[in-house]
Amino acid sequence: MSRQATTLSSIIGTNPYAWLDKIATPLQQGVHAVFRANEAGRVAKSWLNGVPLRHRMHPALVAIPIGAWTTAAIFDALDALSADEKYASAADAAIWLGVGSALPTVAAGLADWVDTYDHQRRVGMAHALVNDVALTLYGVSLALRAGGKRGAGQAIGGLAFSAVSLGGALGGELVYNLGVNVTHLLYPKPPTEYKDVIAADQLHEGKPVVVEDDRVPVMLLRREGQIYAVEAWCPHAGGPLIDGKFEGGTVECPWHQSCFRLDDGAPLNGPASAPLRTFDVQERDGRILVQPSDESKVWPPAPAPPTA
Ligand code: FES
Repeated sequence: MSRQATTLSSIIGTNPYAWLDKIATPLQQGVHAVFRANEAGRVAKSWLNGVPLRHRMHPALVAIPIGAWTTAAIFDALDALSADEKYASAADAAIWLGVGSALPTVAAGLADWVDTYDHQRRVGMAHALVNDVALTLYGVSLALRAGGKRGAGQAIGGLAFSAVSLGGALGGELVYNLGVNVTHLLYPKPPTEYKDVIAADQLHEGKPVVVEDDRVPVMLLRREGQIYAVEAWCPHAGGPLIDGKFEGGTVECPWHQSCFRLDDGAPLNGPASAPLRTFDVQERDGRILVQPSDESKVWPPAPAPPTA
């Protein structure tokens, strides 16, 4: 049974969302084929990745449509509260700016997404689809406004803004929780089966120890008849939790004082916002064995490169 606290991306990793892979596989192959077709494709991809700027292009560009559509939502609200027509035309202009700037933003996002795989790729697909829905809704909203149906256009614009907010949240998950474009050395994936890590008599009541499950450091703590097992480094910036403060089933990171529940890894206060990865524990024949809790099997991603 899973003890892992869930996140937006871990929910997308579950079976009901497996259909996203069916779209992602051919799309990724198609985008790869375009970028690898000739030298122009390779140069375009480099620019879209932000190589000449030495800064990722997608997060830099994404501020423009999100800013424009946020501005449009504010002008729509002002328009609803005022008889002055200037707000209506300002909202329309902001939506147009968002739609126009979304196109290069999508291209840069595709150039980043094409090199992801497994769980990152599926969450990236969800991020793209939600943002595509937002873009389509903004197109419908503009058409309604142009046709004199401003109220309906504003309502659809509100839906589009909700969708783009969800898309933004998924984008944040991709970077902060799943480490897209962050070296995989920082996101090792442990084996998914039980692994013997320590003799049971070496784990004393209230005295945490760090063991390794493959390359993943796991902190064990025996407390009041239960053994807790969580990833040993803090998901905020890698603080060593074994040096933290243990209190009432929680641990406080020694670096910036994020606090986590030990039984499911949930963050109780920041700056960390992602849960600690948790492990299920078995005590067998004088040995302690651990394996990632169910949700952890899909979060974070496997470090193996793509085969296709
Ligand atoms: S490294 Fe743990 S709170 Fe910052």
